[in-house]
Amino acid sequence: MTQTIETGIEDVGADFFADPHKYYGRWRENGPLVRVRRPNGVVHWLIIGYEEARTALADPRIRKNVTELYEIVRRLSPDGNSNVGASEALASHMLNADPPEHTRLRKLVTREFTGRRVAALRPRIEEITRNLLDDMDGKDEVDFIEGLAAPLPIMVICELLGVPFEDRDDFQKWSKALLDADPSIDTAAVSTLMSEYLGRLLAAKRAEPGDDLLSGLATDSADGDQLSMPELIAMTYLLLAAGHETALHLIGNAVYLMLQDREAFQALRADPDRIPAMTEEVLRQIPPVGWATTRFTGEDVDIAGVTIPAGELVCISLDAANHDPAVTPETPRLHLAEDPKHLSFGHGVHFCLGAQLGRLEANVAFTQLLERFGDLRLADEAFTPAWRMSFMRGFTSLPVRLR
Ligand code: HEM
Repeated sequence: MTQTIETGIEDVGADFFADPHKYYGRWRENGPLVRVRRPNGVVHWLIIGYEEARTALADPRIRKNVTELYEIVRRLSPDGNSNVGASEALASHMLNADPPEHTRLRKLVTREFTGRRVAALRPRIEEITRNLLDDMDGKDEVDFIEGLAAPLPIMVICELLGVPFEDRDDFQKWSKALLDADPSIDTAAVSTLMSEYLGRLLAAKRAEPGDDLLSGLATDSADGDQLSMPELIAMTYLLLAAGHETALHLIGNAVYLMLQDREAFQALRADPDRIPAMTEEVLRQIPPVGWATTRFTGEDVDIAGVTIPAGELVCISLDAANHDPAVTPETPRLHLAEDPKHLSFGHGVHFCLGAQLGRLEANVAFTQLLERFGDLRLADEAFTPAWRMSFMRGFTSLPVRLR
């Protein structure tokens, strides 16, 4: 039977970010769908069941288009002008596009972002990791995020794309501000800074291409088609933003979980072939992208007997889906042998383009870390992460003792 939920809107604020599973557990009692009010006051439908999340991620009626999305956010916003994050120009990338536009953009980027190119990066990723661990070695205590989890992905993505590493402070700061849509920040001004920076960089690549990915993207054409300059800017913004914060949190979350499970830590040291399985289990337990990017209903959509009317915002909690007890029984331990069911790289046409790269970075980092620091421990056994106030799941400090 179909019903429309009118009441029962749940507020999502600081307490939620500190411990979302407390909320998911309670919400699940009423089914796989809940209405939530995000910190900006805008009400969204949130899908928390695994099967419903997987289906919704691939449902063409649950749409993506940045102009329509921003219009809906403004319409539903209590002040009529909610902070939407990146400017429409910057956010007009393939993660905010439906087919056939998405298909065209993904085809153009996939010609450059190839499995071969990513695999060829392995020796460089190993070298960067070794250098970062060398810098940590000799100290008793370090912040693991600062020492490895943060710099490794940013160095790798800069190298892959051909973005000057010395510019990282600026674009990291800008992309974080736009991703979190922090209400205290003038996101329009930050978007302009980011667009202008990327415009200059890409014009230089077009004029004098190197052998990096962005030079390829800026000059390559497939079947006579090529990315325009505004498309190139939006695509580069997407690749930069998607390519570093996610891997940072994957590496940070994994080390946090490993250090809490000594038995798993020792098992991994004894048998490093199990590291890729651990990476998958960490992805399941704490997905770096906690909620997939916001979508909207293009028409009325029924989910688990509830009708979401056309023109409403829909979020999909990958975090809740991965912990759906109907699919995976809850466990406090790291399971290393199984192939855990998770949606942490999304599903459907927007499945993560960088999944291979993210896994590679994580597996190289864990292999070297376990080899070198067998006595690695949390500096404070009672450490609790300061979870980011964001739908990205991670934290920015993890003090560890190396020996
Ligand atoms: C390491 C951990 C990573 C995780 C957990 C992750 C997760 C995700 C998720 C969940 C999506 C789909 C979002 C949605 O449907 O709303 C996505 C898309 C995407 N990711 Fe990743 N990602 C990771 C690493 C990377 C890296 C290293 C790159 C490299 C640039 C990257 C590039 C992208 C791109 C371009 C998309 C959009 C794909 C499309 O719209 O067709 N990701 N990622």
